[in-house]
Amino acid sequence: MKVRKAIIPAAGLGTRMLPATKTVPKEMLPMVDKPVIQYIIEEAVASGIEDILIVTNRAKSAMDDYFDYYPELEERLDRAGKEKELAEVRRAADLANIFYVRQKETKGLGHAIGRARHFVGNEPFAVLLGDDIMRAEKPVIGQLIRAAEAYSAPVVGIQRVDPEQISKYSSVKILPKEDRIYGVADMNEKPTKSERLSDYAILGRYVLTPEIFDILENLKPGFGGEIQLTDGLRELCKRRNMMAVDFEGRRYDTGNLRGFLEATIDFALEHPETGAWLKRFLKDKAEIL
Ligand code: UTP
Repeated sequence: MKVRKAIIPAAGLGTRMLPATKTVPKEMLPMVDKPVIQYIIEEAVASGIEDILIVTNRAKSAMDDYFDYYPELEERLDRAGKEKELAEVRRAADLANIFYVRQKETKGLGHAIGRARHFVGNEPFAVLLGDDIMRAEKPVIGQLIRAAEAYSAPVVGIQRVDPEQISKYSSVKILPKEDRIYGVADMNEKPTKSERLSDYAILGRYVLTPEIFDILENLKPGFGGEIQLTDGLRELCKRRNMMAVDFEGRRYDTGNLRGFLEATIDFALEHPETGAWLKRFLKDKAEIL
């Protein structure tokens, strides 16, 4: 099993980041000097993905424009001798083969993934949520792809979370297999602490197989009245072998204000142009607080 394609669902309404996300897609908010979605595409590309489908909606056309050439701007940068800026602007447009499909109604993550059926065909595919940035030595989706290829099975990315926080995620019932790799026996969406199946939650990365599409098409709305991917995965893990990878890396949920600010500070501290300055700035601030 070889994974060559990825889907980035990015058609959510971003209500946790209003009013900023009323007209600017949350995936296009700047994370230091690049939009959030560029980090996610770079992770996919670093994991060997060649073709990427972004699921968008009518309010998100800024994304298609960003991954296109912009001759007028490029000429201006060229004439001004701004080689570094020119290279960066071009690089974004040349990262991968990027395709788009619209989710015409905001009916949930499961419904958004269903829009990718024709793009995917009969191959396994990776899914990277458009607002979850991962910082890791080995790209996180690559860690999942390796397990999917080794076990010929769909895979979910998991990490242990505070039991008080599990109701924000899906919990998974897992069976140990080898270091960091588990079998998946069951899962539930946004459980209460007492309903949780373990302290492990599914966090923003998946490798799926095409059987998921028939399952998603026949699903009834679940939690919040939406077509929930977790309900589809629950059905899939009952039909065939599914694995979970306790991935190495730090996840940032940039779809909420705190996660967005944590990522901004960590990334700016590592950035060669802002790192040393921000460290001093934060130290000075800490002294007066
Ligand atoms: P989230 O619940 O994190 O995103 O969905 P949201 O719905 O945009 O956020 P809030 O809760 O209103 O702030 C998880 C992922 O699924 C996508 C989102 O874009 C995000 O990547 N999604 C969600 C869709 O593509 N379509 C949907 O109908 C719902």
